[in-house]
Amino acid sequence: MQKIEVKIPANPQSSYAITVGDDFLDSIIPQIKTLLPNRELFIITDANVVKAGLLKKLTAGVQLPCYVITPAGEQSKHIGTITKIIEEMETNALGRDCAVVALGGGTVGDMAGFAAAIYKRGVPVIQIPTTTVAQADSAIGGKTGVDSSISKNAYGAFYHPAAVFVDVATLKSLDEKQFNCGLVESIKHALIADSDYFDYLQKNVDALCARQVKPLEYIAMKNCQIKVAVVEEDPYEKNKRRILNYGHTIGHAIESASEYEILHGQAVAIGIIAANIIEQKLGLNAKERLAQLKQLFAKLNISLRIPAKIKKEQILDILSRDKKAIGKWPRFILLEKTGKVLRDGEQYAYNVKREIVEETIDIILKEKY
Ligand SMILES: NC(=O)c1ccc[n+]([C@@H]2O[C@H](COP(=O)([O-])OP(=O)(O)OC[C@H]3O[C@@H](n4cnc5c(N)ncnc54)[C@H](O)[C@@H]3O)[C@@H](O)[C@H]2O)c1
Ligand SMILES: [Zn+2]
Repeated sequence: MQKIEVKIPANPQSSYAITVGDDFLDSIIPQIKTLLPNRELFIITDANVVKAGLLKKLTAGVQLPCYVITPAGEQSKHIGTITKIIEEMETNALGRDCAVVALGGGTVGDMAGFAAAIYKRGVPVIQIPTTTVAQADSAIGGKTGVDSSISKNAYGAFYHPAAVFVDVATLKSLDEKQFNCGLVESIKHALIADSDYFDYLQKNVDALCARQVKPLEYIAMKNCQIKVAVVEEDPYEKNKRRILNYGHTIGHAIESASEYEILHGQAVAIGIIAANIIEQKLGLNAKERLAQLKQLFAKLNISLRIPAKIKKEQILDILSRDKKAIGKWPRFILLEKTGKVLRDGEQYAYNVKREIVEETIDIILKEKY
């Protein structure tokens, strides 16, 4: 078992440990009880995670109150589910001395984290991520929330967990498309922070797809280290944390235009290609990386085709409403080279001319790269 300490300088009480290992789900509850003695635990999970046998393994030998989100996935990530979770916690007479345990993917983690942030003004949350997205990304960093009928994560809070336990064995039951698309967040981490890690991913992609333990543990550690370093520096996303949005500006726009028909990781893969094309247009050294990325996404069986119903104007319209837009135009994270984000003084996000973005969208829509 390996451990990473996360320190949040703005709030020392928010420091926590991430434990990474293989097949240790049944030892986590005793570890939580040591970490948070005398706290009653309340588990939040979803129907698919229960079906995969993970809840049973986590709670082996102990009876704990539990809320199973049904149906699983994004369709339940709304405020109505939070209301039900809070009322179930009250029904179980849980006080401020309880703690929430989130067992599942990013939707479970985001909802459980948000419920914990607001229940009786806040109780600790422990994250046990069970998808490639959650292990690489959502369980770390303290962003929690749910969608409104208008936009994603409209309700939310920054709320750091009390501990994170990453058990790579939980990934065995994950559907192949979910598993592979989730690896795009690992590729993103390598691109923004560590070129050796990018080489590792290229060399070990087949072993990862075969879900071999060692490579899964290795990338879990790498992802946590990279995300933690960025989050520690900028816990509330004032500046540097925005580098984690590499590939996400155009990626989010495509994901939203597809009405979530394409998976997040797939949309981000297209967004990473788009960022690469912009980099090439700006004269940065990105061409060789494009070939590497195409090969990597092909090995992961990730289609870069954008559904025909999506038009350039629609993508541009969504970009103008980007959460981080200034003057109705988003800022883009770009790479100076593999493993290094381009900087403009203290700024990490670039104002790319509309004409360059329009040309790039034309190219990705036609898949002509
Ligand atoms: N908070 C953050 O910083 C952050 C970062 C990235 C993504 N997110 C959020 O995360 C969500 C996406 O996360 P996700 O891709 O994990 O989605 P998810 O939680 O919906 O999980 C994907 C599917 O896999 C199932 N599943 C989960 N673990 C399983 C397992 N071990 N075996 C079998 N099935 C399993 C789930 O029930 C679901 O059907 C989005 O809502 C996104 O907004 C948040
Ligand atoms: Zn993402």
